[in-house]
Amino acid sequence: MDKFRRTALALGASVLAAGGLLAPMSAAHAQANAKLKVGLMLPYTGTYAALGNAIENGFRLYVTEQGGKLSGREVEFVKVDDESDPSKATDNVNKLVKRDNVDVLVGTVHSGVAMAMAKVAKETNTLLIVPNAGADAVTGAMCAPNIFRSSFSNWQPGYAMGEVLAKKGVKRVATITWKYAAGDEAVRGFKEAFEKGGGTVVKELNLPFPNVEFQALLTDIAATKPDAVFTFFAGGGAVKFVKDYAAAGLKKSIPLYGSGFLTDGTLDAQGDAAEGLFTTLHYADSLNVPKDKSFRLNYAKTFKLQPDVYAVQGYDAAQILAIGLKATNGDVGKKAEFAAAVEAAKIDSPRGAFTLSKAHNPVQDIYLRQVEAKENKMVGIATKALNDPARGCKM
Ligand code: PHB
Repeated sequence: MDKFRRTALALGASVLAAGGLLAPMSAAHAQANAKLKVGLMLPYTGTYAALGNAIENGFRLYVTEQGGKLSGREVEFVKVDDESDPSKATDNVNKLVKRDNVDVLVGTVHSGVAMAMAKVAKETNTLLIVPNAGADAVTGAMCAPNIFRSSFSNWQPGYAMGEVLAKKGVKRVATITWKYAAGDEAVRGFKEAFEKGGGTVVKELNLPFPNVEFQALLTDIAATKPDAVFTFFAGGGAVKFVKDYAAAGLKKSIPLYGSGFLTDGTLDAQGDAAEGLFTTLHYADSLNVPKDKSFRLNYAKTFKLQPDVYAVQGYDAAQILAIGLKATNGDVGKKAEFAAAVEAAKIDSPRGAFTLSKAHNPVQDIYLRQVEAKENKMVGIATKALNDPARGCKM
């Protein structure tokens, strides 16, 4: 159609509309037909690169299973590598919101970066689904009707392991982690349950994220001689820590326990150093869940890779988005209806079905797992339907 005809037609339409003969196309209707722009803000470089890729794979797998569309809208991705760098986070998220005009933000892995995303999402009332970062505040003090999390709070796996070790009768524990929200909060959750159960955290060791110079701290652990060590590390850092811990000869003398990220997506690289380790997490490799079986098959077929907890969280982020969109006919602007649908939903996750709390964090079983033949085998449920306390959330 040439430009003149287009203009003439548009003019005609507006005359008809003005005369009340043709209803003007509503914003919602226009939006429902447009592509759905998903802004993926994830780490594609650095110690968490593999985690970012797994999340994207999981998210895409769900969308592909729906024929590439959610509520009739074709899904289009805009991607930013956030490098797990909090100092660049506000600029990165603003690019997606203000330059690219995304309909929904999906991200990220690193808690510090996620806090910046939550702040911008709150200020601009943009829909945000967090597919990993556990920063307690995202569903605590920063909680909002337009912010959802498909993963966990840092408190959750830590708290579950605190209960496990206290019940086991372990008395003196040293902790070691990166000094930032994820490490601090995992240790805090652990300590809360462990000390309630009669244990004592005798030493808290830290190093800056994403450093992996563990030697001096391992020497300190050897000298302290705790009954056990509790840790949070993930990604490339977790690979090195588990290997260094074993190489220092500590694995046999001082049992190592962790939030399950320590051994998730990392087992091939960790090899024998990880064998036998116990961790707590909302996913395991041997769950007898029908949804998990189909998910694992499809994931392996599509990506020629085994899925991990991050892939599950990406998949479930897409499920949350689909549930909300279904209730709003694809209109992300209808925030209240979107939230009500997600709040009422039972999400059919590979981890087992879960619901979201009022603060929009998963209420979920935390499994006790043990590494056996390069798998995180489920040993049992450490804590059933664990609900993050959502401290500071007013919603
Ligand atoms: C976080 O920064 O919240 C974080 C990062 C990696 C994980 C888990 C939590 O595996």
